[in-house]
Amino acid sequence: MDARSSRYQEVYARWQRDPLGFWGEAAADIDWFEKPKTVFDPKAGIYGRWFSDGVCNTCFNAVDRHVDAGRGEQPAIIYDSPLAGEKRAITYHRLLTETQVLGGMLRDLGVGKGDRVILYMPMVPEAVIAMLACARIGAIHSVVFGGFAARELATRIDDATPKVILSASCGLEPGRIVHYKPLLDEAIALSKHKPDACLILQRPQSEAPLIEGRDRDWKTMRDYALIHARNAWDCERMLATDPLYILYTSGTTGRPKGVVRDNGGHMVALKWSMKNLYGVEPGEVYWAASDVGWVVGHSYIVYAPLLHGCTTILYEGKPIGTPDAGAFWRVIAEHGCSVMFTAPTAFRAIKKEDSQGKLFAKYDLKKFRALFLAGERADPDTVIWAENLLKIPVLDHWWQTETGWCIAGNPAGLGALPVKHGSATVPMPGYDVRIVDEGCHEVAANKMGSIVVKLPLPPACLPTLWQADARMRESYLDEFPGYYKTADAGFKDDDGYVFVMGRTDDIINVAGHRLSTGGMEEVLAAHQDVAECAVLGIKDELKGEVPCGFIVLKSGVNRPPTEIEKECIALVREKIGPVAAFKLAITVARLPKTRSGKILRGTIKKIADGDSWQMPATIDDPVILDEIGSALKGKGVV
Ligand code: COA
Ligand code: AMP
Repeated sequence: MDARSSRYQEVYARWQRDPLGFWGEAAADIDWFEKPKTVFDPKAGIYGRWFSDGVCNTCFNAVDRHVDAGRGEQPAIIYDSPLAGEKRAITYHRLLTETQVLGGMLRDLGVGKGDRVILYMPMVPEAVIAMLACARIGAIHSVVFGGFAARELATRIDDATPKVILSASCGLEPGRIVHYKPLLDEAIALSKHKPDACLILQRPQSEAPLIEGRDRDWKTMRDYALIHARNAWDCERMLATDPLYILYTSGTTGRPKGVVRDNGGHMVALKWSMKNLYGVEPGEVYWAASDVGWVVGHSYIVYAPLLHGCTTILYEGKPIGTPDAGAFWRVIAEHGCSVMFTAPTAFRAIKKEDSQGKLFAKYDLKKFRALFLAGERADPDTVIWAENLLKIPVLDHWWQTETGWCIAGNPAGLGALPVKHGSATVPMPGYDVRIVDEGCHEVAANKMGSIVVKLPLPPACLPTLWQADARMRESYLDEFPGYYKTADAGFKDDDGYVFVMGRTDDIINVAGHRLSTGGMEEVLAAHQDVAECAVLGIKDELKGEVPCGFIVLKSGVNRPPTEIEKECIALVREKIGPVAAFKLAITVARLPKTRSGKILRGTIKKIADGDSWQMPATIDDPVILDEIGSALKGKGVV
């Protein structure tokens, strides 16, 4: 890793000199039905649109064209599920047939171009096939992560108003079956919008009763369509700017934001990233150990590796416990994986279980050449541990659901730059990253500030939020005119390396999962005995951060606080889902506030994290902070 031998500076400078030429060239790696004449139209959309007159289809580029080019017999997907005890490969040729058939089935269920389809699915190949089938027929998919509860699903159903919902009878978690179907039924009962039909994949671990007139059995419908060779749907002609999908992500309130992804720009940027950032060649095996319900799953389990003609691994398991902390090494060795991508929390989990790397020594990982980490800050201890164990580059990179691909990273494909622990490395072409103060003035190197990106954002980044242009402007564009607000804070060092230190809003990252503390507060506040509450993220050795809720009971409530705390924990699990990992509720007499009534979340967090803190000058009553400290001690947090 030598800065002089990397092509990064030259490539980034080329983009700076001629951004349209740069992306125009990258677009040549995509098969277009009609090549775009316009690379970027600054007048279209909210901040301009990429490839606005190009006509294309994402499924065609991810599947059909590889079959046409002779990759038909290569595995497109390797499904490896220690939880289901199943392993199987799906070739590009088979994937083509399956997307054609499912596309036809969706058409039979009344889904047309531009209609929304919600997927509430576990990590099974049908989830990937369904995303691609939607892309094929021009429907807009919206995948909802399986760890979210019925109420969260209902919110998304009402926002996306899907024609059809695709789901499964169950998902599998270590030691328990997650029954998806009752959650789906409850969500549809809660939502105002009702889908016309639900297509249900019955899994052998637990089948679910179907509702007549609404639910259809996936397998029966597929077998019928396959035997009768019905509706082998060709790829719909899509404008590059047509939406491919909506992915909901946490905002600062309980109402999630529907991040929209387009077809053309998305393909161009993702394809570029596979070679230049990840350093992967077509035909190689690439593995993102995430979930299709997250952006990492969308971009790097499904779209990017398939657009690039790679084999992607779909792993339904955990880094530990399925069956042990050697699971990742087994998968890499067994499937000949070259490059892997996961969240630091997975490595913290492995390190905790097998700090000596004894299980690692059992496997032959000769093809494995780079590990990429993202989703949360990669703490230097974990990175160094992984470097020492793997003896390959361990490369942090920073991105968001909104951007769809990396903002700053270490471009292995262009020649990796020297690693600085704690830094996501350097901005990718397309991103002009600045660190600014509150007045939007750039700050000096090594000084903390808000991280912003000069508009326009590069291809693949969100053009808007689903049916919420005003919210798009308000959330990302208004505060720093001319820039996209990442809502992350950090600094750049003298070499231009970007250090991302944390969020500037009340979003927290729990085990690499993005969650809104505001959303959790809304749930706690609805408890009959809670007068006031505050939820904040506190340090956790394994998950990076975990939520901690402080509750103040209404006067006159004389039930034991521990009982109410348990109810609060159960309520967050029921309303948001197990993924919230909300396990700590603490009853306090009062919350510390400023004289103007703002809860001092930052100070509470410092106390909980054991960091040094100063008495805020604006505090209303300093004694309350001692009470908070004692309450945290009482729960064993400090
Ligand atoms: N469906 C239903 N429930 C789910 C779920 C899903 N798809 N995914 C997670 N959950 C549940 C878990 O079972 C757990 O439930 P519990 O409270 O009953 O134990 C809860 O949600 C919290 O999950 P998680 O925070 O992931 O914790 P965990 O203890 O199950 O696993 C790790 C911890 C570190 C092993 C795991 O988080 C991990 O592998 N993370 C790294 C990779 C990753 O997924 N990154 C995300 C984006 S890159
Ligand atoms: P998500 O939208 O779920 O991908 O979460 C995005 C957020 O995760 C970012 O805004 C950051 O706060 C955090 N994040 C992601 N990757 C990194 C990273 N490499 N370093 C620091 N924070 C990160």
